[in-house]
Amino acid sequence: MGQRKIRLGIVGVGGVGAGRVKNAAETPEAEVTAVCDLNAKAVEDAQKLCPNAQAFSDAEKLFASGQCEAVLLNLPHFLHQPLGTAALQAGLHVLVEKPMAIRIGECDKMLAAAKKAGKLLTVHHQKRITQRHVVNLMRNGELGPLVRATYISNSVRNNKYYRTGAWRGTWKYEGGGVLINQAIHDIDALLNVTGQVAEVRARLDNLFHDHEVEDTCTAALEYANGATGTFVANVSSFSPTNVVEYETERGAIQFGKPIKLGRLDGGVYDFYDAGDEAEMFAKKPGLTWQDFPEAEPFEPGSLVRDFVLAVRDGRKPLVDPEGAREAVHFFNALVLSHFLQKPMRLPLDPAQVDEVFDALAAGKWKLARRFKAPASVGA
Ligand SMILES: NC(=O)c1ccc[n+]([C@@H]2O[C@H](COP(=O)([O-])OP(=O)(O)OC[C@H]3O[C@@H](n4cnc5c(N)ncnc54)[C@H](O)[C@@H]3O)[C@@H](O)[C@H]2O)c1
Repeated sequence: MGQRKIRLGIVGVGGVGAGRVKNAAETPEAEVTAVCDLNAKAVEDAQKLCPNAQAFSDAEKLFASGQCEAVLLNLPHFLHQPLGTAALQAGLHVLVEKPMAIRIGECDKMLAAAKKAGKLLTVHHQKRITQRHVVNLMRNGELGPLVRATYISNSVRNNKYYRTGAWRGTWKYEGGGVLINQAIHDIDALLNVTGQVAEVRARLDNLFHDHEVEDTCTAALEYANGATGTFVANVSSFSPTNVVEYETERGAIQFGKPIKLGRLDGGVYDFYDAGDEAEMFAKKPGLTWQDFPEAEPFEPGSLVRDFVLAVRDGRKPLVDPEGAREAVHFFNALVLSHFLQKPMRLPLDPAQVDEVFDALAAGKWKLARRFKAPASVGA
């Protein structure tokens, strides 16, 4: 394969984009030829790292400039679909930040544009790297079918964080709260291991934030094979209790440091379908645990380099856009389940998703903050 450098454009070079500029500048197979942001200072800073990059303040002009063959899009969520699609239509390969978009219909537009243009489309879901070996183990069938998935992701953001950008904490521009921003990584990681769910029942809450979106999600999951799951995600919790566990017919995987792999030394049906109590306990399988090391550490520039090499070598990127679309699909199902107050079976109808998200963007439903400081605090 040729060793030429891939000419990269970067749109959105403030915020996380500043880090992506550094990642791209440190990618030996790439040359940053164009940078774009509405914020002139962010562009100036990017040009300090990439002095040969042409500056733009209009993404569409960058796409049409002929300066680059591939772009990184590090933008507020509501821009992922329109600018992602425009870049693909301009004949550019695209690595868009997570989430792929806010709604499945938007993801489908992007997928169709990529297909039509014959260009790569991928999404910055970095958890795909660190759990690759777990996914392989689950998929090779050695542990048998999934029985239960337990995923609890706790973190915290304060109100000032949501004031760092007018797009944050809004249904219209961010597309939601913890689920579409922080927990979309967890959703992608969960689905990468288990595959898509068949049904979700969710409740969303806003416990501590002065915004209209969720900071808390509690959901029950059902898979097509009858397996069940729990998905909890918060930016309202100081608890360090993050639980990621997959139980199967023949064992279990527990995420921690290190990841642990447990194997049952007997059959679960010999136990469940045994006769009397004595026979039942005689047939109770033991679970033997072993450490299952991290697949490989995540280096901040790994997915930028993976994208660049995929473009150069004409191979698939590590993160498939169809999988990233399924993370958005799951997120959409959680939101619909809460606001329509019913279990949602997948696949969802994109028109129904649009209806609910249009209503949310128009301010029909807001999640009001539930806990507030007592009057004496700060007095
Ligand atoms: N992968 C990760 O771990 C990770 C971490 C943080 C953020 N993100 C994602 O990165 C994206 C950006 O988030 P952020 O926190 O950097 O946001 P941000 O608001 O801090 O930065 C967005 C940048 O985009 C620029 N911008 C906005 N509209 C533009 C337009 N039309 N044309 C050109 N530039 C424009 C802004 O000026 C700003 O510099 C989001 O999708 C977010 O979810 C990913």
